[in-house]
Parts: sequence; C-alpha cells; structure tokens
Amino acid sequence: MLALDELDVPIVGAPLAGGPATVELAAAVSEAGGLGSLAGALRTPEQLEADVAALRARTARPFAVNLFEAQRRPGDPEAVARYAAALAAEGLPLGEPRHDDDRLGEKLALMVELRPPVVSFTFGCPARPTIDRLRAAGCAVWVTATTPEEAVEAAGAGADALVIQGVEAGGHRGGFDDDAPGDYGLLALLQLVDAAVAVPLVAAGGIVTGRAVAAVLAAGASAAQVGTALLRTPEAGTSAPHRAALAADGRRTGLTRAFSGRTARGIVNRFQREHADAPSAYPEVHHLTTPLRAAARVAGDAESINLWAGQAYPLAREAPAGEIVRALADEARARLRELAAGA
Ligand SMILES: Cc1cc2nc3c(=O)[nH]c(=O)nc-3n(C[C@H](O)[C@H](O)[C@H](O)COP(=O)(O)O)c2cc1C
Repeated sequence: MLALDELDVPIVGAPLAGGPATVELAAAVSEAGGLGSLAGALRTPEQLEADVAALRARTARPFAVNLFEAQRRPGDPEAVARYAAALAAEGLPLGEPRHDDDRLGEKLALMVELRPPVVSFTFGCPARPTIDRLRAAGCAVWVTATTPEEAVEAAGAGADALVIQGVEAGGHRGGFDDDAPGDYGLLALLQLVDAAVAVPLVAAGGIVTGRAVAAVLAAGASAAQVGTALLRTPEAGTSAPHRAALAADGRRTGLTRAFSGRTARGIVNRFQREHADAPSAYPEVHHLTTPLRAAARVAGDAESINLWAGQAYPLAREAPAGEIVRALADEARARLRELAAGA
C-alpha cells in the first residue's frame, strides 16, 4: 500500500480515460518519480488486466488504477430519448443509450487479485466493505471529492487519501451526484477540506506549472494530480484533432454534458455549444454519442468531439511526459525555496 510521502516527486499523473491514458504514459510518469495512473474505466477487465501486466513489465515503481464508481441512479429515459431524437435528426451515427456499470464488480475483483499500490475512484465513493477489501489486499484507496461534504463522506468510509478536484479541472467532474455538481474552485475547496478531514490530499484542477504545484503544496496538499499538462505528451493517446485544439490556444473551456451525459470541462466547440441542454444521464449519453465521436475523430473534425481540457490548458507543453513531471517538480521546489528564503 503506497503512502503519498513515499513518492520521489509529489506529482500524480491523472487517469485520462477515453483514449489519452496509455501504459506508456503511466510508465513515464512513474519512472520520473511521480505516480502514473491507468484509466480502468471504459476498458474491459481483460484489457485492464493486460494494461497492468504491461505497465509492470515497464516499471517496478508504484502506480494507480482508476475506476468509475457506479452511478447511483439511471438517467431519465424520456430525456435521453429526446436527446437521441435531436441527434438523429441531425443525421449523426448513434449508439444504444444503455445504462451499465462498466463491469465494476469484475474490475474490483481484479484489483484484489492484482494488488496495484493505489486504486483511485471518481464519480462516487465506494461502500466501506469495498474499501476494506481493497485495503486488505494491500491497495491504498483514493476517492475523488469535489465538495467538502463528499470529502467528509469519503474520509468516513475509510479512504486513505482524497483527490480534491476543483472546477478548473479538465475532463469529467468527479462529484458523487451529477444532478447537483459542486462548483468549488480548487483553492477554496482545499482549504475547506483540509479543515474538515485528517487524510492526505491530492490537489487536481488547472495545475500546469511548477508554481501551481508549489501553491497547492503550500495550501495543504501532499501532491498535485495533473491531467491536461500531460495531454500533449508523445506518450499520451490524445487524438490528432484534440492535440491541435490544445495547441491552438485562444478558446475558452466550458462545462458540458453534451458528449457523455455527465458534467465535464472541455474546449468549447460547435457540438458543445449546440447541445447545452443535454440531459444528466451517464453512461447512457456516453454510449449514445460513441459512434458520432469515433467518426468525427477519424474525420479530424474537432468541432464534434469532446476536447477535454482544464482551464489552464494554453500553458500545457508538447514534451515527453518524464520531462514534464521532472520540470514541474524542479520548478515547484525552486519556487518553494525562493518563498522560504524571502520569508
Ligand atoms: C482527457 C481527460 C480524461 C480524464 N479521465 C479521468 C478518469 O478516467 N478518471 C479520473 O478520475 N479523472 C479523469 N480526469 C480528470 C483528472 O483526474 C483531473 O481531475 C484533471 O485532469 C485535473 O485538471 P487538469 O486537467 O486541469 O490538470 C480526466 C481529465 C482529462 C483531461
């Protein structure tokens, strides 16, 4: 079981489900002294098992596997049907909007068997028996929280650490209830959670520079989790149109349910703008839009795919992941030294 202070550098590579996460990316982050993450969501248990084996073949250093907690309730079928009809009227290729749990039970059993040093969760807090089972197998259990209330619930359920995700973050909001998503900025949330719980905190959202890493360490976090900062690395599986949008700068990011039915932050494009009223229904809408996103990706159409990115994305660089992790850590260390000397 990994304790956060065992990491050489206080940087966690975010799990980046849906394409950007690769074994190579997780290995590069871990080899640089951070904690690489495999995205276990939207992969079959068989694929995930192969990913863990491939990662272990590349690095002996610690890593995390991330899973999506099952949604508490299905979306409103009528709202999903209305959204499906609107997309069909545009002549878009669509999938079956089914509700499922991404084979979570099988993946949990796999984690108990494979014993990764960390199993992190988003979209909800596992029940105490699940956390106890993973901890008994030797896995540290991390839970993502987006409000002080979620943090208190997760700490009470036995989580070893909390990933505190501010609204600046790229990709999905990790809150427990998408019908009532919180909108806390990272710094406000970190202070509130730090005052409310005694478990170590990992700060996530809008962290793309070493100075920002220094800021969250100063505010009480034990490490920074970075996602967008890694999207332009050669090791990431980020699609070509997504990379081009990240490099283009100048466009704002916004929250949307248009692509998946769960609130997420991406660079605002045509699809996101035109479907601002998409229902809260994950994973139904995710399955519904999978074919249209796949087709747009192949066509290089950046206006119809999810361009997940955090608010600080214009500062994300194109460079190898190990170099980025080392630079973040070096810059953070230098900044903290400067501040200490000044004080
Ligand atoms: C493309 C993308 C995919 C993501 N997928 C996941 C995921 O599978 N699991 C998870 O816990 N968080 C996921 N996140 C959110 C990150 O864990 C993290 O909270 C976020 O990247 C931090 O904000 P930043 O992107 O500004 O660094 C994803 C983020 C992005 C950008």
